[in-house]
Amino acid sequence: MTESGAHVIVLGNEKGGSGKSTTAFHLAVFLLYQDFRVATIDVDSRQQTLTQYIRNRSDWVKAHGLQLPQSTHYHLPVSDGDSVSRNCRQEFEVFAHAISQVEDDYDFLIIDTPGFDTNLTRLAHSLADTLITPLNDSLLDLNVLARIDPQNGEPRELSHYARLVQRARKERLAIDGQTIDWILVRNRISMLSSRNMRLVQSGINQLATRLGARVAHGIGERVVFRSLFPIGMSVFDPLDDPAIGNMASMPNMSAHKEYRSLVEELHLPISTRARNRRQARRDWSRSRREGPLVFRHMMPGPG
Ligand SMILES: Nc1ncnc2c1ncn2[C@@H]1O[C@H](COP(=O)(O)OP(=O)(O)OP(=O)(O)O)[C@@H](O)[C@H]1O
Ligand SMILES: [Mg+2]
Repeated sequence: MTESGAHVIVLGNEKGGSGKSTTAFHLAVFLLYQDFRVATIDVDSRQQTLTQYIRNRSDWVKAHGLQLPQSTHYHLPVSDGDSVSRNCRQEFEVFAHAISQVEDDYDFLIIDTPGFDTNLTRLAHSLADTLITPLNDSLLDLNVLARIDPQNGEPRELSHYARLVQRARKERLAIDGQTIDWILVRNRISMLSSRNMRLVQSGINQLATRLGARVAHGIGERVVFRSLFPIGMSVFDPLDDPAIGNMASMPNMSAHKEYRSLVEELHLPISTRARNRRQARRDWSRSRREGPLVFRHMMPGPG
């Protein structure tokens, strides 16, 4: 929710290691390949996984002379000062600066948040147009949203994070009357079906109804993600390129398909924006064609 209408996607879940940074990176690369202008912000000042992912990409691209799209990235300073309030202020300044830079010139802003509650995490949530919460495929991981009855998967009282999102939604509604589209995404889904997994599925569906969220199909447990991080690549990159490591395989193509379906299920304003951008490009090239004419009008006449 920036003034220019850049669509803000936030990755959030207070549980560590659920796939926030991996998903943030993949969405950024997908949108870049669609020719959108994409900015990313890493609000996780401790781990900075997204920042590292993006650095790995930039290093690999440079080292191998590749032409691959990259987002404009912002990250917070590592807060190692003694004063907590000064660290917070510095982080807020960097965040506010990044938002102001992105406002006018980008189609999408993707914000990756840490697995714990900070002021900036809350602020980021209230800026979200689309909030994605990846959840590892276990009952234990659903506890980040609510206490789940182990017998029937029914949600009991809501957790801290679910209440944080509810507050962010209220704030957002008060600010500009918009709602946050909240999507729960199962991640690292085991290929083997089990009673436990069916309980997780049922638990997520019930939770989504209770929280006013949607559920996306999700991503399977795939080893490829471990190999992609060190070279800064995603399943949307040309994995059959020898410079990327000849990684085209059936499981990797399945991972690509799953991420592709996930993007579709997010209902991002892709087609509208694509149309607007095409229109903007047409206007721009028309103005270039008209440029010399305008210039001629300004030339002094004969005599
Ligand atoms: N679908 C998947 N299959 C297998 N491994 C995955 C999958 N998604 C993510 N991972 C791996 O899980 C680990 C944690 O992922 P990631 O860093 O994206 O989580 P996170 O939610 O950002 O964690 P944190 O809360 O610590 O920031 C990484 O090693 C990543 O490669
Ligand atoms: Mg992370």
